[in-house]
Amino acid sequence: MAAIPQVPPPTPEEIAIVKSTVPVLEEHGVTITKTFYANMHREIPALNEVFNQANQKNGHQARALAASVLAYAKYIDNLAVLGDAVETICQKHASLLIQPEQYSIVGKYLLEAIKEVLGDAATDAVISAWGACYWQLAYLFINREEQIYTEKANRDWREFIVEKKIKESDEITSFYLKPKDGKPVEQYQPGQYISVRVAVPQQEWKQIRQYSLSTSQDPSHYRISVKRACDIDAENTAHPGWVSNVLHETVQEGDTLDLTFPCGSFHLDSKTTPDAPIVLISGGVGLTPLMSMLNTLVDEGSDRPLTWIHSTRSQNSYAFGDYIKATMKSKSDWHAIVYRQDLASSEHAENYKVLGGRINLRALGRSTDLHLDNPNTQYFICGPDSFMLDLKEVLVSLGAAAGNVKYERFGTGDVVKKEKPVVLAQTTGVCPVSHAHAESGLRCPISGLQEQTVA
Ligand SMILES: Cc1cc2nc3c(=O)[nH]c(=O)nc-3n(C[C@H](O)[C@H](O)[C@H](O)COP(=O)(O)OP(=O)(O)OC[C@H]3O[C@@H](n4cnc5c(N)ncnc54)[C@H](O)[C@@H]3O)c2cc1C
Ligand code: HEM
Repeated sequence: MAAIPQVPPPTPEEIAIVKSTVPVLEEHGVTITKTFYANMHREIPALNEVFNQANQKNGHQARALAASVLAYAKYIDNLAVLGDAVETICQKHASLLIQPEQYSIVGKYLLEAIKEVLGDAATDAVISAWGACYWQLAYLFINREEQIYTEKANRDWREFIVEKKIKESDEITSFYLKPKDGKPVEQYQPGQYISVRVAVPQQEWKQIRQYSLSTSQDPSHYRISVKRACDIDAENTAHPGWVSNVLHETVQEGDTLDLTFPCGSFHLDSKTTPDAPIVLISGGVGLTPLMSMLNTLVDEGSDRPLTWIHSTRSQNSYAFGDYIKATMKSKSDWHAIVYRQDLASSEHAENYKVLGGRINLRALGRSTDLHLDNPNTQYFICGPDSFMLDLKEVLVSLGAAAGNVKYERFGTGDVVKKEKPVVLAQTTGVCPVSHAHAESGLRCPISGLQEQTVA
């Protein structure tokens, strides 16, 4: 591995040059980062194991890197603005065990890609200024990542045994993961995630994915709850997600999985606002980090008022329903509102109601449900991008402080309003994914196809 160069901080002239390249980055940033990844992976194939290959193929990681480099160039003279973004990146890097020496590799290929894409516009002065600024950012990351590593008992991959595999719904299965070395798991904050590394049959390289810890701290094991992913493309071809399908289909109780330690900046902070109400809002599998927060509050015997708001497609796709119902009953100041898209009429139980349709925050009680009367109320949202952006917008328009509304993206980079054109799956047909459905006529939770009985 190359040594980390000792590069002095950028000079005011170099900063000015980098700032002057912002319009060019706005235009060519994604082309530069795509070129960077293509060249780097071609010449160092082992990095295919570090980078999520789905995010390479769909361009999400190139977009995430381009956006962060652009933000850096824009705010180079006020890096404090980037605080939360830097923390999110460093937590993700640490979860993937990114090492200081790897910054030399990334720096080399990034500068070469800038040269390749910009051609004559990339003068020596531009490349040298970007070199100095790259290292300023790299040192910022390296130092923060080192701090995260030193907080962990174990800073390498660690083997875990799948102790139990429990089906929570048609789509979501929980994995109880026990350290093979018999030592306790790492401490974590409710809402954090771990990385899991598995061999994937379709891929030459192992693949790493993040999964939120879905329950409160227990020294003997972690629990993750994984949705089996599948999308349909424009040709109506099903694409089962690589890692989640291996976890659902191949990995069995007693098998071993490689895991890193818990990371992430989306978590409940019981110290700064210990009495403030909490509103947990999730869509589909986005409930996992919120389950960890909820269970931590249960364990702590918390008296904080709490509202659980969840959206699910159908009864079959609804995970942890009975648990949520029972938990809400246990506290007078806690209640849940669950939206089921397949439900025509509503259902009511103690502190728990199920409504038809999608989440409609404006129809809920300002103080009773959303606790908008308390300026310290903490809102945590996890679900698809548009879901999170829309709900945050509504909460802020209703009076919630934007800084109190946090969300977690189950992907790379920042949330994007319209990520890709929605491809309408054909509504009928034989599901191409080999798995059993409970009844004919239901929408397949994996392929999205409406199942038909074939004679
Ligand atoms: C911080 C964080 C926390 C997370 N927590 C959880 C969690 O608690 N539970 C959970 O289930 N997930 C969670 N995720 C998501 C998880 O990491 C994986 O992204 C998810 O399991 C899908 O991975 P995969 O390998 O199965 O799919 P991939 O192979 O990575 O594919 C991603 C998606 O693209 C689709 N796709 C692939 N190829 C094509 C194609 N050619 N055309 C159209 N679509 C295609 C797949 O069907 C899939 O839906 C989290 C992610 C992050 C970043
Ligand atoms: C200054 C240099 C770097 C910048 C600006 C940068 C930027 C980013 C950003 C913005 C993300 C997305 C984070 C998220 O939203 O979760 C990310 C993720 C990632 N980074 Fe970096 N990074 C840098 C250096 C590195 C290095 C040295 C490596 C090691 C090879 C690396 C490997 C990764 C990986 C593997 C991911 C996850 C990708 C995925 O999930 O698809 N990065 N980085």
